[in-house]
Amino acid sequence: MRIIIEKDYAGVSRRAADFVEALLRRKPNAVLGLATGSTPLGLYRELIRRHKDEGLDFSGVTTFNLDEYYGLAPDHPQSYHHFMRVNLFDHINVPGDNINIPSGTAKNIAKSCDDYERKIREFGGIDLQILGIGSDGHIAFNEPGSSLASRTRPKTLAPETIRDNARFFGEGEEVPKFAITMGVGTILESAACLLLATGKGKARILAEAVEGPVTSQVTASALQLHPHAIVIADDEAASCLKRRAYYEHVERVSSGFGGES
Ligand code: PGA
Repeated sequence: MRIIIEKDYAGVSRRAADFVEALLRRKPNAVLGLATGSTPLGLYRELIRRHKDEGLDFSGVTTFNLDEYYGLAPDHPQSYHHFMRVNLFDHINVPGDNINIPSGTAKNIAKSCDDYERKIREFGGIDLQILGIGSDGHIAFNEPGSSLASRTRPKTLAPETIRDNARFFGEGEEVPKFAITMGVGTILESAACLLLATGKGKARILAEAVEGPVTSQVTASALQLHPHAIVIADDEAASCLKRRAYYEHVERVSSGFGGES
């Protein structure tokens, strides 16, 4: 894994945007895997800024989001469809037909999940998958115990996740208890994965994911099996990494290799 440590949230957001921009310049019809949550908001703001100020072009891009709450329609204000429109898609020039997000309301869920997997394959796979990490170590909604070979499917949310996500819901509004999520196996097939972690609340779980054993109890640890997994953490989220000094040394001296894994 490549571990990049930036001073703060803004630095993480800019650095992540640099990876997305480099991909789009190299491959204008790239397939981007996108995530929701608070962590990627700064990245999305920076991509919007580069689109408006610098002409970063998304017209050939196809996107696949990681997950959606089960039972929420695309126009529900807490749905991830809505989140993505408001925080990214309404402000860049990605064509609506190129946007893919799992359906939370499909009548035949198993078929809808299989179709999602098939569509990712038809587009040649995801070039760069953006990821956050949950306080229980999840990537997407792959809660502890998720098979590391799992595919897009329904998943029961863990109590920590429901608690963490309650902040986005109004008082009296029920947080969904289930989601449709890409699997760990789906994510591991992306050509590159970019995991963003910010704030001291993520420090302990990030260290487990990066330096602990590969385990389905911390599904982000599966990224250790990926040949091109990059973690961008801010100072606080990196604070429990035992080998932090080494990671910083690598970033200082290895630029000539074109990136380590
Ligand atoms: P957050 O969520 O970015 O809101 O912390 C991360 C996640 O649950 O994947």
